[in-house]
Amino acid sequence: MCVTGNSKEGSPFCTDETNNNLNKLYCFSLYISLCYYSSEIISNKMNPFQIFSTWFEEELKQEGFKTPSACCLSTIGLDEYPNARFVALKEMRDDVFIFCGSLDSRKGIEIKHNSKVALTFWWDGTEKQVRIQGSAMRISTTDADTYFSQRERKAQIVSSISKQGHPIADLEVLMSEYTRVSLSGQKIERPENWGGFSVSPIRIEFLEFNSSRFHKRVLFQKENNQWDIKLLQP
Ligand SMILES: Cc1cc2nc3c(=O)[nH]c(=O)nc-3n(C[C@H](O)[C@H](O)[C@H](O)COP(=O)(O)O)c2cc1C
Repeated sequence: MCVTGNSKEGSPFCTDETNNNLNKLYCFSLYISLCYYSSEIISNKMNPFQIFSTWFEEELKQEGFKTPSACCLSTIGLDEYPNARFVALKEMRDDVFIFCGSLDSRKGIEIKHNSKVALTFWWDGTEKQVRIQGSAMRISTTDADTYFSQRERKAQIVSSISKQGHPIADLEVLMSEYTRVSLSGQKIERPENWGGFSVSPIRIEFLEFNSSRFHKRVLFQKENNQWDIKLLQP
């Protein structure tokens, strides 16, 4: 089964005589939009955090958007194999990206061992990708308390009763514990092993997908505390 071919897509650079004018028009509009894009970013009117916020908001406005906060968190495994899973971005504030979860499951252990991580977003509605690389630091317990208190009660219960990532013989045991806690009506305190990390980026790349594969890519890289900005080939 071919998953890359798309007969509807056609080639924007098709040499067929009849399509020639359309192709020229297409190339011209692509050229104009790339020039505009480059000058807007390079003239440094925008910083990467503003661009991130704008793109996030744009995705939120899309009809039927799902979870723009979902991003792939990549860590470096103890065995040096990369390891990746989705997490939910809680917040971007003060130029850091915050996510939460168990501190003693694999992600927590791996970050403790090596704080270098990557966060990758794909927004289907707006067809945009953002890649972030940086260092993760534990957030304060006060912040962890706040994020925990904002979670739905059922999520709080699961975090409090489950040892994330540990093997279990029978999920029924956990389910009956869930029901017991749920019916008790008791306040769920943040477990000590639940917290969060803030990622301070050193590199952020923005990509606008283009069906011609002429993607617009711009890389922000921290150099001496300044953002160095480069346009990248598609
Ligand atoms: C869309 C989505 C969002 C998720 N958000 C989180 C999250 O914010 N925090 C978290 O710990 N796990 C989250 N998970 C579960 C993780 O993908 C993962 O299974 C879990 O964190 C255990 O990973 P680890 O064993 O590497 O620590 C999410 C999963 C999906 C599919």
